[in-house]
Amino acid sequence: MNVFKTILAPRPIIKYTISILKMGTKTVAGKKIRVGFIGTGRISTLHQLYYKNNDDAELVAICDKNKGTAMNHAEEWGIKKENIYTDYQEMLGRDDIDAVEVLTPHSSHRDIVVAACEAGKHVSVQKVPCMSLSEYDSMQVAARKAGIKLKIFENFQFHPPYRKALELMKTIGKPVAVNIRMWQSVRSLSAWAVPISSWKWRISEKDDYKLPTLWDDGYHKHNLVALVLGKKIDRVQAWNGGYKLYKLVRIDVPAVISYKTKGTEFGTWNVAISQDLPIRSDYYGCEEMVEIQCDSGIIWVNGCTGNMFIDCPTGPGAPGVYWIDSNGKWNSDCTMQTNWKYSFMACTKDFIDSIKDDRLPYRSGDDARHVLQIDLAMVASLRSGFRDVKVDSITDGLPKHLTESEDIKEPEPNTEEPEKIE
Ligand SMILES: NC(=O)c1ccc[n+]([C@@H]2O[C@H](COP(=O)([O-])OP(=O)(O)OC[C@H]3O[C@@H](n4cnc5c(N)ncnc54)[C@H](O)[C@@H]3O)[C@@H](O)[C@H]2O)c1
Repeated sequence: MNVFKTILAPRPIIKYTISILKMGTKTVAGKKIRVGFIGTGRISTLHQLYYKNNDDAELVAICDKNKGTAMNHAEEWGIKKENIYTDYQEMLGRDDIDAVEVLTPHSSHRDIVVAACEAGKHVSVQKVPCMSLSEYDSMQVAARKAGIKLKIFENFQFHPPYRKALELMKTIGKPVAVNIRMWQSVRSLSAWAVPISSWKWRISEKDDYKLPTLWDDGYHKHNLVALVLGKKIDRVQAWNGGYKLYKLVRIDVPAVISYKTKGTEFGTWNVAISQDLPIRSDYYGCEEMVEIQCDSGIIWVNGCTGNMFIDCPTGPGAPGVYWIDSNGKWNSDCTMQTNWKYSFMACTKDFIDSIKDDRLPYRSGDDARHVLQIDLAMVASLRSGFRDVKVDSITDGLPKHLTESEDIKEPEPNTEEPEKIE
């Protein structure tokens, strides 16, 4: 089954005309969907954008275990003092909140999501959804039991240039390979201030397997590779070096990750960091470029998280989509919204629309589970001498004895005679 086909299919355009919405276990009479945030750290500022002056949904309450962090946003977001919480259970106890967004570190997701489901709230949880497949399955069971929508928030697939590339693929043949290039900079020209607390949990084993880029940002990249190839990923092989930030903290890049389907399609994601790379960005100090080879054409997408391609008149060109079509002709489209924030707004809209239209959100269910399984297979590869790991060999969390061969299935021997190169 092509599990990734659904995202490429035309989206149902169902107008919000009914006044009574069936929302899981509750009925809400013709009113805006009322949302609460759990976690108001760095990324919550991009989640809040969709709710500004919105006819369909409003942000009504916020919760952060650190009250000061929540208070910092309250005035700007129009949240009254009585709607600020430090205990998410207390916020979940409110009957006038329909849905929550979970924006906390990864190891806390499972418990918060299950509690929110049990309280009858629709839930959007930021990637990475949780730390293991059994945690993921328990979130799904809780959501099904409660009859609510559970969305795994993966915004890159909503980046307008990526959407355009996915559309184009319908006209230039089947994909055979996808390559994601990512640049990181320690001292970019412009970037967000990210508090140390935001990095601290990312270098911990408990929350992030000590992989601040590969486990965390990796979820986006694995998802994009699988989405573009339109197939499940069968095997993953990962290598990483290491980099000492300010000669103090060791992080997980540079790295090269390769993905293979059961057929001959493959993907790569490679990322490297430089001290003074002059990346311009409104957000993190990084940038991406994606190249997709299809049967009868090639597509390039310049730019995603950063603004590195802005004002690039020649060479790779401005942010947008470039492609060679089946006649060998060059084309480009840079008219879409390219700032990274639009991917967040579109992804949040998908959550709200899924509630209104009573349909599955993107990602959810088995699709999102598969991406988590790829993430775990990548960690298993990194921890077992960069071995080729079969994605299906991951059945829960990380295998216990990663250096022992019985925990990770060896690749089946290739019995085909290699073709001779004359
Ligand atoms: N889609 C993306 O591109 C993207 C980018 C950055 C972060 N994220 C994801 O967003 C989530 C949050 O990341 P961040 O960078 O904002 O982290 P952060 O550390 O800046 O913010 C997390 C906040 O959660 C709060 N918190 C922790 N446990 C809590 C609890 N039990 N109850 C209430 N509040 C609690 C913390 O006090 C903190 O303010 C993570 O899942 C991360 O992977 C996604």
